[in-house]
Amino acid sequence: MPLMKQNLRVPGPTPLPDEALAAQSAPMIDHRGTEFEALLREISSGIAGLIGTDEEVLLITGSGSGALEAAVVNTLSPGDRVLAVTIGSFGDRFAKIAEVFGAKVDRFEIEWGLAAEPAALAAQLAANPAYKAVLLTHNETSTGVTNPIRELAAVAHAARDEPLILVDGISGLGAMPFEMDAWGIDMVVSASQKAWMASPGMAIAAVGKRARAAETKALMPRFYWSFAEARRWAAKGQTPWTPAVSVLYGLRVGVRRLLEEGRERTWARHAAVAGGVQAGLESLDLRLLAAAERRSHTVTAAWLPDELEWAPFNAAMRAKGLIVAGGQGKLAGRVLRFGHMGDVGIDEMAQAIRVMGETLAEFGHPADAAGAVEAAHAAYRASLAGATG
Ligand SMILES: Cc1ncc(COP(=O)(O)O)c(C=O)c1O
Repeated sequence: MPLMKQNLRVPGPTPLPDEALAAQSAPMIDHRGTEFEALLREISSGIAGLIGTDEEVLLITGSGSGALEAAVVNTLSPGDRVLAVTIGSFGDRFAKIAEVFGAKVDRFEIEWGLAAEPAALAAQLAANPAYKAVLLTHNETSTGVTNPIRELAAVAHAARDEPLILVDGISGLGAMPFEMDAWGIDMVVSASQKAWMASPGMAIAAVGKRARAAETKALMPRFYWSFAEARRWAAKGQTPWTPAVSVLYGLRVGVRRLLEEGRERTWARHAAVAGGVQAGLESLDLRLLAAAERRSHTVTAAWLPDELEWAPFNAAMRAKGLIVAGGQGKLAGRVLRFGHMGDVGIDEMAQAIRVMGETLAEFGHPADAAGAVEAAHAAYRASLAGATG
């Protein structure tokens, strides 16, 4: 156990509600029994409702990267032309997975900190031969940018030979608006440790009709991640391989809480908390990576001030119990990332901002920590008032 209560503000794993923690320590059950069947069915149908789909939701033990691999190997064949739209390090990972399994991947790379814009994607698609699939990231956790996924999907649908639209929704689903069926998304994947409020360990894949049709022709090798196997067993309320039963207990609690809160309220809460965090960080004189209109509601990335070294600054925050994430890939040492998804409210965010402000001051970057806390609360309240007013 940590020595002090941590304020865990990395973008996953997220802090668990007590109820999920308690649920995860319940005794094991037989994963071939009726209790397990009820557990699996409740979670799948709950998630389907929360992400706006009538299609199947498969639950497979593994992390989000496994779900990305599953999306690729179940729909594509070696040699297939794929357009990977990448706006950060997780978009790069999706592209890399497709490459490793033999797809011919064109990367449409957008400067980190920006979103992919629909007109630019339309031009890219028009300038190239037909693609079998377009890989998109809903919410890029490395930069704190949310893509306009509905508009991007519409553009991809209109492209030659109507490519499949495969979406990494790992750090956005559950917390931000997402309408899989209405937006014409063929597949979206996520993972239990994000807005779903459970421990790491369960991959989530929602699979639409066109993706299922593609499966029958897809020749990439697959065994553990085979959707055909997962589907065959899901029909009996089971998984082909021994599942992470405890994580599913937690996930059931997370899904129930989201259903109880209601999608619009959950989305408004995340938008308000994000607004509070962003106002607080800006008030500490930290510049955010993302432009205001594309800022994520689940993770915020901010540039570190010039001459502030990440390692000692991070160590000093950690010594006070505040755990944020650093930059990834080419942003390592240059940005900090602050997670705010799942069981989040403004109070723990404000506390984190205060600690960050005090630590910045200790490192010679005077910041008005109390003012930043006020700014965070004010932006939060204004956002909620706007959402309900
Ligand atoms: C957008 C996105 N894609 C993929 C991943 C990879 O998921 P995992 O670390 O569970 O493999 C993450 C994890 O942070 C993510 O945020």
